Amino acid sequence: MTVHKKSNVNYNGSTFDRAYERADNHYEKIASKALENSIEHLNHAYGQKLCGAEGAVEFRDGGVYTYDNHGKRYLDCLGGYGIFNVGHRHPKVIAAVRNQLDQVCLHSQDLLNPWAAHLAEQLAKLAPGKLKYSFFCNSGTEAVEGAIKLARLATGKSEIISTKNAYHGVTLGALSATGRAVFREPFEPLLNGFTHVPFGDIKALEEAITKDTAAVILEPIQGEGGINVPPVGYLKKVRQLTKKKGVLLILDEVQTGLGRTGRMFACEHEGVEPDILCLAKALGGGVMPIGCFMSTSKIWRALESNPSIHNSTFGGNPLACSAASACLDVLKEEHLPARAAVMGNHFMRRLNQLRKRYPQYISDVRGRGLLIGLEFTSKELREAAQVELFHRGVLVAATMNANRTVRIEPPLIITESQINFMVDTLESILDDVDNKKIKVKKPRKHSKKR
Ligand SMILES: Cc1ncc(COP(=O)(O)O)c(C=O)c1O
Repeated sequence: MTVHKKSNVNYNGSTFDRAYERADNHYEKIASKALENSIEHLNHAYGQKLCGAEGAVEFRDGGVYTYDNHGKRYLDCLGGYGIFNVGHRHPKVIAAVRNQLDQVCLHSQDLLNPWAAHLAEQLAKLAPGKLKYSFFCNSGTEAVEGAIKLARLATGKSEIISTKNAYHGVTLGALSATGRAVFREPFEPLLNGFTHVPFGDIKALEEAITKDTAAVILEPIQGEGGINVPPVGYLKKVRQLTKKKGVLLILDEVQTGLGRTGRMFACEHEGVEPDILCLAKALGGGVMPIGCFMSTSKIWRALESNPSIHNSTFGGNPLACSAASACLDVLKEEHLPARAAVMGNHFMRRLNQLRKRYPQYISDVRGRGLLIGLEFTSKELREAAQVELFHRGVLVAATMNANRTVRIEPPLIITESQINFMVDTLESILDDVDNKKIKVKKPRKHSKKR
């Protein structure tokens, strides 16, 4: 196996010392068995996955790049499905976690946890409006579970309205809100009381509200649904409607939050304040897993009589909270939301130029900030382009609920020249498709799905 040396990595290359050599050798050893173990002990399907077929093992990462065991460098335009907003292994986040390793790693659960309290204060200052209290968990789906439970508890009602094509996670409660049959049907019956209306349709939402509706749950931009941006003013109208009807508004910003769309929170584009906000993914600074749901003092009262009615053993642990706290500092210090807006405009401008040149291959470019959906004219073309981008050193992936669409969500620190590299690489691929140097399978007739 060829080992990619640390010195090629942007962040922290110099701060690693020999103490880590031993761990390195061990990593090298387990990396050499990654494919075999993945197939035998994770899922047999790894043999068919692109990384499996290529034998590409994740070996190092730093900044906007990830490197495989052969030393090949990939420009990360996937961003771990939206977790690397501050980049891979940002030095401040790494330092925060390293310091905390020498202090307290996991909390006793009995004494006060200063990191959770500090992070909750930071979030209260950062989040829109009256959102003041936080509950920490370990993932996006858990954040959504907690939000649904809080909405039911605070209102005493049980119905939740979600949207078609929404993605809110895969645990049974969050799955009940997720709006795509392929994820839901094999696990039915799910929770009672969930309905799904078309995203962006305020009339359909109004008609779906009943006297038993506890909350409406929405992504400000549908991520896994295909990077669907609703009509301007939709979110504001949803807010007005839910207020008028006495229904809570849960915004799931697990993917759109923390600078991704060009504002710290996507709801800020329309000046909307949710009653409950869900965060996860990028919150851990690309280093630790953490999620949370936040709400107002008034709604949080529902949790006061029995604070452990909803709980998590690992939620709010000091390592994850120290990473999240450093991540919030970095987002502000490096002005990453504003940077995402500027770089996102550049990215979309360049991709739209490419769409004009190749309308027979690219049918749409949409999104906001650095959450961009690139829709191809067929699933087969999307697959071919994705595989070829991988070979040429760029990572992207399809959105879960729209298989013609590739999501582009790189670290927010991406530069203009890195964006140009990605678009130039894609252009050379489409040139090769056009010249028949790359063969694309014929689309299946009934593949209407985006
Ligand atoms: C909007 C949204 N909510 C929830 C989730 C679930 O997050 P997790 O995979 O961390 O459980 C996702 C994951 O993609 C998401 O995009």
